[in-house]
Amino acid sequence: MGKVIELQAVSKTYVMGENEVNALVNVNFAIDEGEFVSIMGPSGSGKSTCMNIIGCLDTPTSGDVIIAGKYTSKMTEKELSFLRNQTVGFVFQQYHLLPNMTVLENVMLPLRYKKIPPAERKALAQVALERMGLSERMSHLPHELSGGQKQRVAIARATVTEPKIILADEPTGALDSETGHNVIDLFKNINKNSGTTIVIITHDDGIGHSAPRTIHIFDGRIKKDERNV
Ligand SMILES: Nc1ncnc2c1ncn2[C@@H]1O[C@H](COP(=O)(O)OP(=O)(O)OP(=O)(O)O)[C@@H](O)[C@H]1O
Ligand SMILES: [Mg+2]
Repeated sequence: MGKVIELQAVSKTYVMGENEVNALVNVNFAIDEGEFVSIMGPSGSGKSTCMNIIGCLDTPTSGDVIIAGKYTSKMTEKELSFLRNQTVGFVFQQYHLLPNMTVLENVMLPLRYKKIPPAERKALAQVALERMGLSERMSHLPHELSGGQKQRVAIARATVTEPKIILADEPTGALDSETGHNVIDLFKNINKNSGTTIVIITHDDGIGHSAPRTIHIFDGRIKKDERNV
């Protein structure tokens, strides 16, 4: 199968006044279509930066990012947002739910961006929320939810469009271990049944090594690219 994500000599430097932070340094890897990969590394090692760059939410200082065969550096902002909406489902570390929308509306939103007909959006969002055990919370606002419930809404929103690529930043960080493992099982089923490429960032050793492949980041560099048996 072909590569769906490729980073070539990607570096990211943040400039803060006189200080420079090298968040990523010469990062190279490719992920094939249908792979399930975990990214692990200590806090501040560059994991979220890497995820934001893969998802075209941020641009590298140097190097190339090739997503679904396209060199993203040559794309306009409009083309990038089309690529994101059509191809990628994000679970953000801080959830990023829209505070003035209900749970149901939050999950319906990416369906609108993906131009799914209005009549179909509600039913699809309901199914995605039911799957996350949130049938009773659909009309709530995000601030009325616990951290773990918000996280599950974020996962429903990322999966509802059946994207080609799911990028999940600590998707089990706010969940108890049983719920966390259920989420990973859901991702594995989506990966197996739909061939979706899944990249998860995790601090949890058990979850990280349950993926067939783990990329270890340390101080912005790839330290190890490991196949788990
Ligand atoms: N917008 C920014 N401006 C300046 N520095 C930043 C910015 N975003 C990240 N950094 C810095 O880049 C480095 C990598 O940050 P990143 O968020 O990618 O780490 P992480 O591996 O996701 O950490 P965590 O596990 O705590 O979420 C850190 O030193 C961080 O302070
Ligand atoms: Mg992070």
